[in-house]
Amino acid sequence: MGHRMTRTITTQVCIIGAGPSGLLLSQMLANAGVDTVVIDRKDQAYIEGRIRAGVLEQGTVTALEEAGVACRLHREGLKHTGFELAFDGDRHRIDLTALTGKTMTVYGQTEVTKDLFAKRHADGQVFLFNAQNVTPIDLTLDQPRVNLIHDGDAITVRCRHIAGCDGFHGVSRRAIPPDVLKTFEQVYPFGWLGIMVEKPPVSHELIYANHQRGFALASMRSPTRSRYYIQCDVDEDIANWPDDRIWAELAIRLGQDAAANLLTGPSFEKSIAPLRSFVAEPMRYGNLFLAGDAAHIVPPTGAKGLNLAVADIRLLSRALIAHHKDHSDHHIDTYSRTALNRVWKVERFSWQLSMMMHQFPQHSPFQRRMQRADFDYVSTSETASRALAENYVGLPLE
Ligand code: APR
Ligand code: PHB
Repeated sequence: MGHRMTRTITTQVCIIGAGPSGLLLSQMLANAGVDTVVIDRKDQAYIEGRIRAGVLEQGTVTALEEAGVACRLHREGLKHTGFELAFDGDRHRIDLTALTGKTMTVYGQTEVTKDLFAKRHADGQVFLFNAQNVTPIDLTLDQPRVNLIHDGDAITVRCRHIAGCDGFHGVSRRAIPPDVLKTFEQVYPFGWLGIMVEKPPVSHELIYANHQRGFALASMRSPTRSRYYIQCDVDEDIANWPDDRIWAELAIRLGQDAAANLLTGPSFEKSIAPLRSFVAEPMRYGNLFLAGDAAHIVPPTGAKGLNLAVADIRLLSRALIAHHKDHSDHHIDTYSRTALNRVWKVERFSWQLSMMMHQFPQHSPFQRRMQRADFDYVSTSETASRALAENYVGLPLE
């Protein structure tokens, strides 16, 4: 079938991906007077319907404030000053605020995405949804392009820079020549089964539990809506996990004190997600810049995925604004190095907390004792607790 017509759109920065990374970048650039076009292969309803984590670092909240999209977040977000670790029923509270002076905010990533969409539409942002065959080309030229099919028309977006914010399965990372791109990956031998339930959470703070039967996490979205996860096999059929079985397992894994307060009910948004660590280097090729899940994945333990994406966007927006407004390429030239420096430290933290809090089928009795010793050390050393807290609340940008 032939395409009805060919159209050229010109912009300063072409953003591929309308997830939180692409939306926040477009907002920060718009605020500085830099023009963008945002392309996504899905539509807004689909993007807003994806369930993701919901714990924001203080630096993430600051970025959303600076972008002008934190109004509802301030009204509805829940301030947390600590969280708990549990190990075979023994509990240790990490007092984030006492140890670091910082707080965390519980507010769903889905809500962040909705707030960003609302603001972008109010500002008249150009979106191309349901785009097909999205192809970034001429990446090393001063005028790279993104070709795509939209509504049956062939469209070329001409720009100065391309932001690859199209997530792990996107096209941007794969547009970097294989002899330039290095990737690093670790897959974990289990998944997380997550449920949402319209009941108050078991505790006013998050509980991360390692139990002989596997990991469990008690989280929340609001004072009346809770979010729970349990470790399970990755290829487990979700039909094997009726709600009753999940509640029984949570009661055991979270420990007796928690079990006594567990308010059960019918679950919704039940799904199983794999755990992966992944990094792509470099995060820049010519005039293409990768940010967020397009460049890296962390396992969900510690809730760093969205926060890491926002940190990338803070660096990338600074770099692009400096180019387009101040004619300075210093931050463009250091973007990949600066971003990766922080990315690897956050990868390390997410990996370490994952290693400490899960049951690994291949672990020897020695390795299991090492996990217990990790927990005991954190429980009894303020220094170790502070190191954990410093990472949990978010490492500084530079
Ligand atoms: N062309 C256009 N858009 C694409 C393509 C493509 N070929 N491939 C993927 N996309 C879109 C997806 O439809 C999605 O809307 O890119 C967007 C990427 O969004 P996310 O996956 O949410 O990635 P990001 O914005 O970097 O957000 C990072 O989301 O996955 C979580 O843990 C992660 O919390 C972190 C945050
Ligand atoms: C969540 O609430 O979805 C959540 C919280 C903490 C995590 C991961 C997910 O580490």
